[in-house]
Amino acid sequence: MLMIAHLSDLHFGRLQPGVVQRLAADLNRVGPDLTVISGDLTQHGRRREFRAARHFLNGLPGAWLAVPGNHDLPRINLVERFTAPFDRYRRLIGPDLCPLWRHAEAVVVGVNTARSFGAHWNWAHGRISREQVRHVADVMAAATPRQTRIVVAHHPFVAPEIRPDLRLVGGRRAAVSQFARCGVDVILSGHFHLGYAAPVAHEAAADGHVVLAVQASTATSSRVRGDGNAYNVLRLDGQRIDLQVRRWRDGRFVPGPTRRIR
Ligand SMILES: [Fe+2]
Ligand SMILES: [Fe+2]
Repeated sequence: MLMIAHLSDLHFGRLQPGVVQRLAADLNRVGPDLTVISGDLTQHGRRREFRAARHFLNGLPGAWLAVPGNHDLPRINLVERFTAPFDRYRRLIGPDLCPLWRHAEAVVVGVNTARSFGAHWNWAHGRISREQVRHVADVMAAATPRQTRIVVAHHPFVAPEIRPDLRLVGGRRAAVSQFARCGVDVILSGHFHLGYAAPVAHEAAADGHVVLAVQASTATSSRVRGDGNAYNVLRLDGQRIDLQVRRWRDGRFVPGPTRRIR
Protein backbone atom coordinates (compact mmCIF):
# COMPACT_ATOMS: atom_id res chain seq x y z
CA MET A 1 0.00 0.00 0.00
CA LEU A 2 1.35 3.35 -1.06
CA MET A 3 -0.10 6.66 0.08
CA ILE A 4 0.12 9.87 -1.94
CA ALA A 5 -1.19 13.24 -0.77
CA HIS A 6 -2.21 15.50 -3.65
CA LEU A 7 -2.11 19.24 -2.91
CA SER A 8 -2.57 22.05 -5.37
CA ASP A 9 -2.69 25.81 -5.71
CA LEU A 10 -1.07 26.73 -2.41
CA HIS A 11 -0.76 30.39 -3.50
CA PHE A 12 1.69 31.53 -0.83
CA GLY A 13 1.12 35.29 -0.77
CA ARG A 14 -2.63 34.89 -0.58
CA LEU A 15 -3.30 32.37 2.16
CA GLN A 16 -6.37 31.52 4.15
CA PRO A 17 -5.38 32.49 7.71
CA GLY A 18 -4.29 29.55 9.86
CA VAL A 19 -4.60 26.86 7.20
CA VAL A 20 -0.92 26.28 6.39
CA GLN A 21 0.06 25.30 9.93
CA ARG A 22 -2.94 22.96 10.27
CA LEU A 23 -2.28 21.47 6.85
CA ALA A 24 1.34 20.71 7.77
CA ALA A 25 0.16 19.10 11.03
CA ASP A 26 -2.53 17.11 9.21
CA LEU A 27 -0.05 15.82 6.62
CA ASN A 28 2.37 14.79 9.36
CA ARG A 29 -0.45 12.88 11.04
CA VAL A 30 -1.63 11.22 7.79
CA GLY A 31 1.98 10.41 6.84
CA PRO A 32 1.93 10.00 3.03
CA ASP A 33 4.91 8.37 1.29
CA LEU A 34 4.83 11.18 -1.26
CA THR A 35 3.21 14.61 -1.34
CA VAL A 36 2.47 15.96 -4.82
CA ILE A 37 1.92 19.69 -5.35
CA SER A 38 0.36 20.33 -8.76
CA GLY A 39 1.41 23.95 -9.26
CA ASP A 40 0.62 27.52 -8.24
CA LEU A 41 2.82 27.38 -5.17
CA THR A 42 2.84 31.20 -5.11
CA GLN A 43 0.47 34.05 -5.86
CA HIS A 44 2.76 36.35 -7.85
CA GLY A 45 5.99 34.37 -8.25
CA ARG A 46 7.74 36.62 -5.69
CA ARG A 47 10.90 35.49 -3.92
CA ARG A 48 9.39 35.74 -0.46
CA GLU A 49 6.41 33.68 -1.59
CA PHE A 50 8.70 30.97 -2.98
CA ARG A 51 10.73 31.01 0.25
CA ALA A 52 7.57 30.55 2.33
CA ALA A 53 6.43 27.72 0.03
CA ARG A 54 9.83 26.05 0.31
CA HIS A 55 9.72 26.32 4.12
CA PHE A 56 6.35 24.51 4.01
CA LEU A 57 7.77 21.80 1.70
CA ASN A 58 10.74 21.31 4.04
CA GLY A 59 8.32 20.42 6.85
CA LEU A 60 6.49 17.69 4.90
CA PRO A 61 6.78 14.06 5.94
CA GLY A 62 8.31 11.77 3.31
CA ALA A 63 9.18 12.85 -0.20
CA TRP A 64 7.55 15.63 -2.22
CA LEU A 65 7.25 16.38 -5.92
CA ALA A 66 6.08 19.70 -7.36
CA VAL A 67 5.49 21.24 -10.78
CA PRO A 68 5.07 24.97 -11.55
CA GLY A 69 1.73 26.63 -12.24
CA ASN A 70 0.92 29.81 -14.14
CA HIS A 71 1.15 31.84 -10.91
CA ASP A 72 4.76 30.73 -10.40
CA LEU A 73 5.98 32.89 -13.28
CA PRO A 74 7.08 36.47 -12.54
CA ARG A 75 3.98 38.68 -12.88
CA ILE A 76 5.35 42.16 -12.40
CA ASN A 77 8.81 41.91 -13.97
CA LEU A 78 8.02 41.17 -17.62
CA VAL A 79 11.69 41.16 -18.67
CA GLU A 80 12.31 38.31 -16.27
CA ARG A 81 9.05 36.65 -17.34
CA PHE A 82 10.27 36.41 -20.91
CA THR A 83 14.00 35.92 -20.45
CA ALA A 84 14.16 33.63 -17.39
CA PRO A 85 10.59 32.64 -16.54
CA PHE A 86 11.40 29.72 -14.25
CA ASP A 87 14.64 30.94 -12.65
CA ARG A 88 13.08 31.72 -9.29
CA TYR A 89 11.15 28.47 -9.22
CA ARG A 90 14.31 26.51 -10.05
CA ARG A 91 16.40 28.31 -7.47
CA LEU A 92 13.92 28.32 -4.61
CA ILE A 93 11.76 25.20 -5.13
CA GLY A 94 13.76 22.78 -7.26
CA PRO A 95 15.86 22.69 -10.42
CA ASP A 96 13.73 20.09 -12.20
CA LEU A 97 10.52 21.33 -13.86
CA CYS A 98 9.57 17.79 -14.89
CA PRO A 99 10.52 15.79 -11.79
CA LEU A 100 10.33 12.03 -11.44
CA TRP A 101 9.65 9.82 -8.42
CA ARG A 102 9.96 6.06 -8.55
CA HIS A 103 8.72 3.54 -6.03
CA ALA A 104 8.10 -0.23 -6.29
CA GLU A 105 4.35 0.50 -6.52
CA ALA A 106 4.24 3.72 -8.54
CA VAL A 107 6.03 5.92 -11.00
CA VAL A 108 5.15 9.61 -10.80
CA VAL A 109 6.29 12.07 -13.46
CA GLY A 110 5.71 15.82 -13.40
CA VAL A 111 5.13 17.94 -16.50
CA ASN A 112 5.46 21.72 -16.58
CA THR A 113 2.38 23.04 -18.44
CA ALA A 114 2.85 26.72 -17.46
CA ARG A 115 3.91 29.08 -20.26
CA SER A 116 5.32 32.59 -20.04
CA PHE A 117 3.16 33.75 -22.96
CA GLY A 118 0.80 32.33 -25.55
CA ALA A 119 -1.01 33.13 -28.77
CA HIS A 120 -4.06 34.18 -26.79
CA TRP A 121 -4.88 37.04 -24.45
CA ASN A 122 -4.87 34.96 -21.30
CA TRP A 123 -1.38 33.77 -20.41
CA ALA A 124 -2.77 31.71 -17.54
CA HIS A 125 -3.63 28.96 -20.02
CA GLY A 126 -1.30 26.02 -20.14
CA ARG A 127 0.03 23.67 -22.75
CA ILE A 128 1.67 20.25 -22.97
CA SER A 129 4.20 19.87 -25.77
CA ARG A 130 4.98 16.85 -27.94
CA GLU A 131 8.41 16.60 -26.31
CA GLN A 132 6.80 16.45 -22.88
CA VAL A 133 4.39 13.72 -24.03
CA ARG A 134 7.34 11.78 -25.43
CA HIS A 135 9.17 12.17 -22.14
CA VAL A 136 6.18 10.74 -20.25
CA ALA A 137 5.99 7.82 -22.71
CA ASP A 138 9.72 7.10 -22.25
CA VAL A 139 9.35 7.09 -18.47
CA MET A 140 6.28 4.84 -18.59
CA ALA A 141 7.97 2.42 -21.01
CA ALA A 142 10.37 1.55 -18.18
CA ALA A 143 7.58 1.03 -15.61
CA THR A 144 6.70 -2.44 -14.33
CA PRO A 145 3.12 -3.84 -14.45
CA ARG A 146 2.95 -3.50 -10.67
CA GLN A 147 3.57 0.24 -10.75
CA THR A 148 0.64 2.67 -10.88
CA ARG A 149 1.51 5.25 -13.54
CA ILE A 150 0.87 8.84 -12.54
CA VAL A 151 1.34 12.15 -14.38
CA VAL A 152 1.31 15.48 -12.52
CA ALA A 153 0.49 18.70 -14.40
CA HIS A 154 -0.91 22.03 -13.23
CA HIS A 155 -3.48 22.54 -15.99
CA PRO A 156 -6.54 20.27 -16.17
CA PHE A 157 -7.29 17.58 -18.76
CA VAL A 158 -10.99 17.34 -17.93
CA ALA A 159 -13.55 20.03 -17.02
CA PRO A 160 -15.75 19.93 -13.93
CA GLU A 161 -19.37 18.92 -14.50
CA ILE A 162 -20.57 22.28 -13.18
CA ARG A 163 -18.33 24.26 -15.57
CA PRO A 164 -17.94 22.35 -18.86
CA ASP A 165 -16.97 25.63 -20.56
CA LEU A 166 -13.64 25.96 -18.73
CA ARG A 167 -10.57 25.89 -20.94
CA LEU A 168 -8.37 22.80 -20.61
CA VAL A 169 -4.66 22.31 -21.20
CA GLY A 170 -3.58 22.84 -24.81
CA GLY A 171 -2.37 19.74 -26.66
CA ARG A 172 -4.40 17.45 -24.42
CA ARG A 173 -6.02 15.28 -27.13
CA ALA A 174 -2.76 13.93 -28.51
CA ALA A 175 -1.32 13.78 -25.00
CA VAL A 176 -4.12 11.74 -23.47
CA SER A 177 -4.19 9.27 -26.37
CA GLN A 178 -0.47 8.71 -25.90
CA PHE A 179 -0.91 8.49 -22.12
CA ALA A 180 -3.57 5.80 -22.62
CA ARG A 181 -1.28 3.86 -24.97
CA CYS A 182 1.54 3.87 -22.43
CA GLY A 183 -0.74 2.87 -19.57
CA VAL A 184 -1.00 6.10 -17.58
CA ASP A 185 -3.55 5.46 -14.82
CA VAL A 186 -3.95 8.86 -13.19
CA ILE A 187 -3.35 12.54 -13.99
CA LEU A 188 -3.14 14.83 -10.94
CA SER A 189 -3.92 18.50 -11.62
CA GLY A 190 -5.29 21.72 -10.14
CA HIS A 191 -5.66 25.29 -11.49
CA PHE A 192 -9.47 25.54 -11.31
CA HIS A 193 -9.52 25.44 -7.49
CA LEU A 194 -12.22 22.77 -7.75
CA GLY A 195 -11.87 19.18 -6.63
CA TYR A 196 -13.33 16.33 -8.70
CA ALA A 197 -12.33 13.10 -10.42
CA ALA A 198 -13.42 11.83 -13.82
CA PRO A 199 -12.15 9.60 -16.62
CA VAL A 200 -10.54 11.47 -19.52
CA ALA A 201 -11.95 10.71 -22.97
CA HIS A 202 -9.28 9.66 -25.45
CA GLU A 203 -8.98 8.20 -28.94
CA ALA A 204 -6.78 5.24 -28.02
CA ALA A 205 -9.47 3.44 -26.09
CA ALA A 206 -9.25 0.16 -28.06
CA ASP A 207 -8.14 -1.81 -25.00
CA GLY A 208 -10.53 0.12 -22.77
CA HIS A 209 -7.72 1.58 -20.66
CA VAL A 210 -9.10 4.32 -18.43
CA VAL A 211 -7.07 7.43 -17.68
CA LEU A 212 -8.46 9.02 -14.53
CA ALA A 213 -8.09 12.76 -13.97
CA VAL A 214 -8.00 13.75 -10.31
CA GLN A 215 -8.32 17.45 -9.57
CA ALA A 216 -7.55 19.09 -6.24
CA SER A 217 -9.06 22.29 -4.91
CA THR A 218 -6.75 24.91 -3.45
CA ALA A 219 -5.24 23.52 -0.25
CA THR A 220 -4.40 26.80 1.44
CA SER A 221 -5.42 29.87 -0.57
CA SER A 222 -8.23 32.30 0.12
CA ARG A 223 -8.98 32.14 -3.63
CA VAL A 224 -11.61 29.45 -3.13
CA ARG A 225 -14.20 29.00 -5.85
CA GLY A 226 -17.15 27.47 -4.06
CA ASP A 227 -15.24 24.37 -3.06
CA GLY A 228 -13.38 25.45 0.06
CA ASN A 229 -9.84 24.41 0.96
CA ALA A 230 -9.14 20.72 0.54
CA TYR A 231 -6.60 18.15 -0.57
CA ASN A 232 -6.69 14.56 -1.82
CA VAL A 233 -5.27 11.38 -0.35
CA LEU A 234 -4.75 8.46 -2.74
CA ARG A 235 -4.06 4.97 -1.42
CA LEU A 236 -2.72 2.63 -4.11
CA ASP A 237 -2.32 -1.12 -3.98
CA GLY A 238 -1.75 -1.95 -7.66
CA GLN A 239 -5.34 -3.13 -8.27
CA ARG A 240 -7.30 -0.14 -7.08
CA ILE A 241 -7.09 3.44 -5.92
CA ASP A 242 -8.88 4.67 -2.82
CA LEU A 243 -9.48 8.40 -3.15
CA GLN A 244 -10.33 10.52 -0.14
CA VAL A 245 -10.78 14.29 0.08
CA ARG A 246 -9.77 16.04 3.30
CA ARG A 247 -11.67 19.33 3.63
CA TRP A 248 -10.99 22.38 5.78
CA ARG A 249 -13.90 22.66 8.22
CA ASP A 250 -14.07 24.68 11.44
CA GLY A 251 -10.31 25.03 11.82
CA ARG A 252 -9.18 21.53 10.84
CA PHE A 253 -8.97 19.14 7.90
CA VAL A 254 -11.79 16.58 8.04
CA PRO A 255 -11.63 13.33 6.02
CA GLY A 256 -14.54 12.67 3.65
CA PRO A 257 -15.82 9.30 2.43
CA THR A 258 -13.43 7.06 0.49
CA ARG A 259 -14.18 6.45 -3.17
CA ARG A 260 -12.80 3.16 -4.48
CA ILE A 261 -11.65 3.14 -8.12
CA ARG A 262 -10.54 -0.09 -9.81
FE1 LIG B 1 -4.33 28.55 -8.76
FE1 LIG C 1 -3.28 28.12 -12.08
